[in-house]
Amino acid sequence: MKNYNIAIVGATGLVGSTFLKIIDEYNISFNNIKLFASLKSKGKKITFKNKEYSLNILEDGCFKNIDFVLFSAGGAVSKQYAKQAVSEGAIVIDNSSAFRMDENVPLVVPEVNMSDAYQKNLIANPNCSTIQCVVPLYVLDNNFGIESIEYNTYQAVSGAGIKGINDLVSSNGKFEKHFPYDIKETCIPHIDMFMEDGYTKEEHKMMNETRKILHNDNILISATCVRVPVLNSHAVSIRVVLKNDFTVDAIRNIMKSTKGIVVLDEPENNIYPTSIQANGNDNIFVGRIRKDKVNKKAVLLYVVSDNIRKGAASNTVQIMKGIMDYENSI
Ligand SMILES: NC(=O)c1ccc[n+]([C@@H]2O[C@H](COP(=O)([O-])OP(=O)(O)OC[C@H]3O[C@@H](n4cnc5c(N)ncnc54)[C@H](OP(=O)(O)O)[C@@H]3O)[C@@H](O)[C@H]2O)c1
Repeated sequence: MKNYNIAIVGATGLVGSTFLKIIDEYNISFNNIKLFASLKSKGKKITFKNKEYSLNILEDGCFKNIDFVLFSAGGAVSKQYAKQAVSEGAIVIDNSSAFRMDENVPLVVPEVNMSDAYQKNLIANPNCSTIQCVVPLYVLDNNFGIESIEYNTYQAVSGAGIKGINDLVSSNGKFEKHFPYDIKETCIPHIDMFMEDGYTKEEHKMMNETRKILHNDNILISATCVRVPVLNSHAVSIRVVLKNDFTVDAIRNIMKSTKGIVVLDEPENNIYPTSIQANGNDNIFVGRIRKDKVNKKAVLLYVVSDNIRKGAASNTVQIMKGIMDYENSI
């Protein structure tokens, strides 16, 4: 088993610091870890596995001798430095939206399309709310064929990084105003910028990324993305129109036997997915499975997952581990 050199760009951020936690939890063996943040963090140190690491600044040659670079410092940083990392010899896994829809860059959720990542040197990690949906949707598409999907999201403030959290937890009205309205007082049906068609960029990401990951350009999709006053873990209500007949019991059983999914679906006992179960682990929780009342070909699901872990950091580390395992097997 090769020992790899790993770099993390955005190591002080919510996602970047969770990369370290998950590398430790997954027992990823490494030779050295190099951490990067902005100029603001220059001189600061991070302790990981009882060793102090200085924070580095991005510059020419900074990725030499690095095998994997995990980027999580926003799209502008990825656009400026990801290709440099590739040309200096690293495999890049990028958490931003910079390359997700580039046709030469695979967009990967290991439970769905891990093999897309093999022998590639730039891989994109999908949007957080997309990741938790495509795992159950992949199972539905394989078993019943998907005609269309309607997403309604309830997205936690941590999805907007440290600034999003500060808006929810600040006291004395001194919130940073990262969101256009005080998130302590209201849900906000606006995530990322508005586009010409009246949808937001976040909604476009969910629609486009779902088709790309499922390798199915024919699925009709619409989405409404809403920020809610919850600290962590996104929820998505999904309405899926299927091509073939189904029963709720058959879908529940298929979900139960899918790796990465935990079914919580006993409404009579108040058992359904919430952020409380999802926070701090890598499972995707599925419940409220029922037939739609409008279209008998449609099923409704409610899906909750930790957006910082499975929606970002865990998915990225799982991709890196999948490539390491593949390289060590050939
Ligand atoms: N939060 C989520 O649920 C989530 C999910 C999926 C994907 N993502 C994506 O992950 C990325 C980071 O999100 P986050 O939530 O972790 O944000 P965050 O908590 O605000 O952290 C941002 C990180 O980027 C670093 N950074 C900023 N400018 C930099 C520069 N010029 N050079 C090097 N480092 C720089 C920051 O360093 P300093 O501390 O020095 O400023 C910090 O470490 C974004 O692209 C986001 O879209 C986030």
